[in-house]
Amino acid sequence: MKDISLHLLDIIENSAKAGAARVQIDFERAGTRFEMWVRDNGPGLPPSVSGNPDDPFVTTRADRKVGLGLAMLRRAAERTGGRMDVDSAPGRGVTVHAAFDLGHIDAQPIGAIDEALAAAISSWPGLDFEVRIGPERRVVFDSRAVKKELNGIDFSNPQVHKFLSFSLREELAPLGLAAGPLPDVS
Ligand SMILES: Nc1ncnc2c1ncn2[C@@H]1O[C@H](COP(=O)(O)OP(=O)(O)O)[C@@H](O)[C@H]1O
Ligand SMILES: [Mg+2]
Repeated sequence: MKDISLHLLDIIENSAKAGAARVQIDFERAGTRFEMWVRDNGPGLPPSVSGNPDDPFVTTRADRKVGLGLAMLRRAAERTGGRMDVDSAPGRGVTVHAAFDLGHIDAQPIGAIDEALAAAISSWPGLDFEVRIGPERRVVFDSRAVKKELNGIDFSNPQVHKFLSFSLREELAPLGLAAGPLPDVS
């Protein structure tokens, strides 16, 4: 995996595939410490997985015999001196938490978190997203609120995707989580 944003996409994909209706994604950044939480309201880890969700040979995937998403995220976090935890209870969804030291020599770049989120939101228009930042958990994106304003226009609409990318970038850039400088709209 090239950067942390791709791990994030992979974790969100797990929630989407498990049939969650909603994911809540939190980011915290302080100096070189970066943490993220992805919490869904899906069915929770299946019993065959719940003992060791990040064992590569434990997967409910049908297309191949290894499931690497969580295992790769754990490795990426731990090699920076950080950690990864999965918390799940049947019927109460799954929470994946990962902590990184971005200043560690083995840390991956963070990548474009804003673009990963915009891609996820457009790819799974039926999944509700809430994005929060900082220890105070300020809500910077709530797809249910945006959906209301869109009056039935889909998140897969290219104009809507542009708008999503812009507003996520604006909110996440101050934490150093966005791809580049804000586009000049003056
Ligand atoms: N959010 C989730 N909700 C329910 N089950 C999950 C979730 N995330 C992961 N799992 C279970 O854990 C397994 C391992 O996940 P992962 O490491 O991403 O590999 P893969 O998705 O390739 O199977 C999945 O096959 C799935 O059964
Ligand atoms: Mg996966």
